[in-house]
Amino acid sequence: MEAKQTYGVTSSNFTGQDFLALSDFHSSEIMYLLEKAVQIKAELKEGIRRKPLEGKVLAMIFDKASTRTRVSFEVGVVQLGGDPIFLSTKDIQLGRGESIEDTAKVLSGYVDGILIRTFAHRTIEQFAAHADVPVINGLTDLHHPTQVMADLLTILEHKGKLAGLKLGYVGDGYNNMTHSLLEGAAKVGMDITVASPFGYEPDQMIRDHAKLVAKQNGSSVVISNSPEEAITDADVVVTDTWSSMGMEAEADERNEIFKPYQVNADLCAKAKDDYIFLHCLPAYRGKEVTSEIIDGPHSVVFDEAENRLHAQKAIMEALMGGM
Ligand code: CP
Ligand code: NVA
Repeated sequence: MEAKQTYGVTSSNFTGQDFLALSDFHSSEIMYLLEKAVQIKAELKEGIRRKPLEGKVLAMIFDKASTRTRVSFEVGVVQLGGDPIFLSTKDIQLGRGESIEDTAKVLSGYVDGILIRTFAHRTIEQFAAHADVPVINGLTDLHHPTQVMADLLTILEHKGKLAGLKLGYVGDGYNNMTHSLLEGAAKVGMDITVASPFGYEPDQMIRDHAKLVAKQNGSSVVISNSPEEAITDADVVVTDTWSSMGMEAEADERNEIFKPYQVNADLCAKAKDDYIFLHCLPAYRGKEVTSEIIDGPHSVVFDEAENRLHAQKAIMEALMGGM
């Protein structure tokens, strides 16, 4: 693609890079990718088909279930002219104990990019350290950066801006979505307040770093135990499942602990009149959010899900397109 000058960033900034966490990118790079996603979405709607990934292959390693991430990446790479290969860890030697290092080196000899959904964030870092091609985080226990790129795109579309808005997150604080939202909001100058039960707050290092970045960008990060504090005057209301993948055994206990942190009509009455509601999905109606809210007029969750496709095409084109 052309070396487009936006925010002082060109596509060459990304060539060959990994996409593991939003903290690895400068604010201007995140804005560049969002603008690129807007352009890519418009092109698709107009029927324009560019093929910047022609002849390129994306390996997609999944260690956990997925609907949106798998389908949006598969469709996205095909729309850009490339090919996906879906690899469940149940079927490849990695699942039988072959080392991450060897798997990363072997796949680097065949493919042009690797998407991974796994448990420990350390696994993807190790994979990226040994791969010669870009590695994209399709969710780890610590981060979900491609989802948050879609969230930022959705907020931008509905609100026309990011900086200066207030995002209120209520629910599980020590969560991949919360961590990536903290990093993403801080990067784009959006105020963020996270409210979770005592003992379920976000990772200390991630929140400290987000506070620092937010300060540089003129915004704030507040970590709270009060849902009301998070939602009062919020432009954007966000929640996520109370029991992420891998926490199934704790679900009953967590359902009790998180009850006061449900996003419902009483809580949302404290948000701005024109607030929007986001949830990365899958959602559990009656638990973290009521049907009234997720199926109501403020909810943009299906735009958000669709935007996975457009945001990720921008990321793939930037990372893999120039090689
Ligand atoms: N939001 C999200 O990542 O959904 P999947 O688990 O279906 O991929
Ligand atoms: N926090 C959730 C997100 C699912 C897309 C999980 O990790 O299961």
